[in-house]
Amino acid sequence: MKEKKQSDLKVLLSYAGNYKRLTITGLGLSAVAMILGMLPYICIWLVARDLIAVAPNWALATGVARYGWMAFAFAVAGIVVYFGALMCTHLAAFRTASNIRKAGMEHLMKTPLGFFDSNASGLLRNRLDGAASETETLLAHNLADIVGSIAMLIAMIVLMFVFDWRMGAACLLAAVVSVLAMFSMMGGKNAQLMAEYQAAQDVMSKAGTEYVRGIPVVKVFQQTVYSFKAFKQAIEEYSAKAEHYQADVCRVPQAINLTFTEGAFIFLVPVALLLAPGALRSGDFAGFITNFAFYAVFSAIVSTALARVMFAASGMMLAQTALGRINQVMSAPTMEITDQPKAPKDNSVAFKDVSFTYAGAELPALDHVSFRVEPGQTVALVGPSGGGKTTAASLIPRFWDVTTGAVEVGGVDVRDTDPHVLMDQVAFVFQNTHLFKASILENVRAARPDATREEVLSALSAAQCDDIIEKLPDGVDTMIGSEGTYLSGGEQQRVALARAILKNAPIVVLDEATAFADPENEALIQKAFSVLTKDRTVIMIAHRLSTVVGADRIIVLDSGHVVQQGKHEELLRSEGLYARMWKEYNQAVKWRIQSEEGK
Ligand SMILES: Nc1ncnc2c1ncn2[C@@H]1O[C@H](COP(=O)(O)OP(=O)(O)OP(=O)(O)O)[C@@H](O)[C@H]1O
Ligand SMILES: [Mg+2]
Repeated sequence: MKEKKQSDLKVLLSYAGNYKRLTITGLGLSAVAMILGMLPYICIWLVARDLIAVAPNWALATGVARYGWMAFAFAVAGIVVYFGALMCTHLAAFRTASNIRKAGMEHLMKTPLGFFDSNASGLLRNRLDGAASETETLLAHNLADIVGSIAMLIAMIVLMFVFDWRMGAACLLAAVVSVLAMFSMMGGKNAQLMAEYQAAQDVMSKAGTEYVRGIPVVKVFQQTVYSFKAFKQAIEEYSAKAEHYQADVCRVPQAINLTFTEGAFIFLVPVALLLAPGALRSGDFAGFITNFAFYAVFSAIVSTALARVMFAASGMMLAQTALGRINQVMSAPTMEITDQPKAPKDNSVAFKDVSFTYAGAELPALDHVSFRVEPGQTVALVGPSGGGKTTAASLIPRFWDVTTGAVEVGGVDVRDTDPHVLMDQVAFVFQNTHLFKASILENVRAARPDATREEVLSALSAAQCDDIIEKLPDGVDTMIGSEGTYLSGGEQQRVALARAILKNAPIVVLDEATAFADPENEALIQKAFSVLTKDRTVIMIAHRLSTVVGADRIIVLDSGHVVQQGKHEELLRSEGLYARMWKEYNQAVKWRIQSEEGK
């Protein structure tokens, strides 16, 4: 347990980089400040000693004023040094937190894009940001206070021996009881309980997110009560755990801790009473009273020191969970990025004996898939839902990396190319288009940030988006998703096509949406589509088989296997999956036309 804490701190400090020294300086200054802060009490003790020594001839106590000034000087020096310490730790903490953010973002950049499908990138970034801020508090305040308090405790133990060790021990005994009570809350079985309590908190926030995400589905299926159940259950679980932890684990130790922190003199009085007769007999009663006065005052700083340690320790625990979250981000899988990138030779795409299994899945989504797309060719991937079409497409821009085999673009393994070069070479239109909450112009420009307004407009025009822009209040500058400006599925697809057209990449990967668009949109999409695919290498995932008739080659994927490949006519001739799919497709189209006519 202890070892883990130290290594956590090491991990944290490893992010400090050059600022590690500043952190250590700050911590050192904090220790100095705490010790300076104790010196005035010694001055007070010296004053008391002098006064008692000369009593009742007060005029003889010449050193009193000097001690007074010294006490004042130490107090001021303590404050100044503490201020300096906090300046150092704040600066270092700020830098460290921003280093953590930077390191985390860099790590996420190397994470395969597919990872963000199941782990929303915004959430990860928020977590990273929040966690980095929490470490800031630890490094800026808590750690300085911990080190300072430890210095103080050591100085206190020394002082205990200097004056009267028995009364000193009485003061420290209260401190020991209080600290032991505190540790009993965190150690052993209770640590387990605390972990459970924090885990319940995590589950609850996840269930909350799920619930909110699912609201549209819930509304459609009228399942309000059912879906709320999981969330409610998580809340209840959490409150039960929290209550259990608070009531059964924390209540007694916390009470003990507070009592002994506030009443550090609790043991001092009985000890003094026990010692008084001996002091009287020895004749040095004055010295005894002085010491008692000292420890009475001294016990006050014991409670301050302990309160500070308590506070710092809770900060330490917060920082620990924060570090856990940082580590979670840092342990997201990364892609290997090559140091010696090779340039693709042409615009061909080849799958060479590719297998791919999603993390956690039992069966491979692709199983020994091989095919080749020559530059300028159009190849269609078809097959039943779940066959692996989207998976195959997403391996090309390295959303994921193959498990075995290789995907080559321009004769070079995609893992051996510069990711930026690869991204420039391949344009994507996804099955589910994501438009950001921004103007249409910005949405399209995202494909090529340096494009001029005119270029964006002409791409939109080529993608048959003129009618969309005309009906929007501010034309291309209309924000999407605000004030009721939502686009239909077909319209979104056209905007996505405009994006791909603007990108002007030589290879286009198209994952067509499953849904039938209305006939008007359908025709426009087809037109936009032919602009986009002209003279390019195209890998097209088609659900409407009519669009693949003219493809140079059709690859039929079923359960991750290539079950057929060839031209439309060839595939129709050989009785197989494709021929069956074609029959079904035509049947569906016929029904659809009939029902349209019937209207
Ligand atoms: N992110 C993912 N994590 C785990 N498994 C996945 C993931 N995406 C897809 N799969 C699984 O991989 C297999 C292939 O899915 P894929 O999406 O490639 O099929 P598809 O051919 O594109 O289907 P559709 O026609 O419905 O779009 C399926 O069994 C699917 O459940
Ligand atoms: Mg798909």
